[in-house]
Amino acid sequence: EVVKDRNGIHQVVLQNSRGASARVSLHGGQVLSWKTDRGEELLFISSKAIFMPPTPVRGGIPICFPQFGKRGSLEQHGFARNKIWVMDDHPPPLQPSDSSGKSFIDLLLKPSEDDLKIWPHSFEFRLRVSLSAEGYLTLISRVRNINCKPFSFSIAYHTYFSISDISEVRIEGLETLDYLDNLHEKKRFTEQGDALTFESEVDRVYLGSSDMIAIFDHERKQTFIIQKEGLPDVVVWNPWEKKSKSIPDFGDEEYRQMLCVDGAAIEKPITLKPGEEWTGRLELSYVPSS
Ligand code: BG6
Repeated sequence: EVVKDRNGIHQVVLQNSRGASARVSLHGGQVLSWKTDRGEELLFISSKAIFMPPTPVRGGIPICFPQFGKRGSLEQHGFARNKIWVMDDHPPPLQPSDSSGKSFIDLLLKPSEDDLKIWPHSFEFRLRVSLSAEGYLTLISRVRNINCKPFSFSIAYHTYFSISDISEVRIEGLETLDYLDNLHEKKRFTEQGDALTFESEVDRVYLGSSDMIAIFDHERKQTFIIQKEGLPDVVVWNPWEKKSKSIPDFGDEEYRQMLCVDGAAIEKPITLKPGEEWTGRLELSYVPSS
C-alpha cells in the first residue's frame, strides 16, 4: 500500500498476514516504522522529527551513504538520507531471491546532477525492504558502479531501536572488539569482556564484529537480534543528556528511549570498479526473553 505523508511524500506500508507492519518513506529510503503483530512499535522516532527534505528524519533507519559521519568532504552521513528515492518496478533479480512469503518494496537512488558535482561517481543504489511472515525486517542494499572509474564509499544503517529505558539494556556481541571512539578524536580502544551497558554518552564504531549482535531489553523482556552480511562494523550511539539538548530535532529526555546500533562498513571503505556491484544485508528480528 502506498500512502502520502502530510508533505506529500510517498510512503510504502508493508504488512504480513499476522498483522505485523513496516513503513518505508521515499524520503531517504528510510524505514520509519516497524511494528509487531500486536501493534508494538520497535523503532524510535523523535517527537521533534522533521519530515521535510533535505532535513534527515530523526529516527527509524536512516541510511548513511556514501559517507559515514564527518569522515570525508560531504555533509554529515552523506546525502542518501536527504534525497527522494523512487520505487523500482523492475529491479534486477536478487540472488538468493529473498521474496518468498515476504511483503517487500524495491527502491532506487541515482545521483542527481548536483550530487555529481559534490561526489562525481555515477551509481545505482537499490534497496529492498522486506517483512517476513514472522515479522522480521530485512534491508538489502545493492550499490553498483555505473561510471568508468572506481569509487569508494562507506555505509551504515543508522537504526534507532525503541527501548524501554537506556539503563535497562545491554548489547552482546561486541566484547573484546576494537572500536574507534568519536568522543576521543576517533582514537582506537579495545572493549572489555563484558556486555555493553550505558551510563553516559556513547559514540563509537566497533570494528570487524561477528555477523550477529543482540540488544537485551530487561524491562520489556525482549531481545533484538541484528544479523548482517557485508557489514563488518557496528556503530553504537546514544547522545545522553547534554548532547540531546544540542540536537534541535530531538527531545531532551528522548535519549532514554532510543539506542542506535548500526550494521555498517566504515573503517575499510568499499571500493567498486566500473560495473561492479556490492551487496550488504541487515536482518532485524526479536525474541521474547526473561
Ligand atoms: C552518530 C555520529 O553515528 O550519528 C554522531 O557518530 C552523530 O556524532 C549521530 O551525532 C547523529 O547524527 P545526525 O547527523 O543524524 O545528527
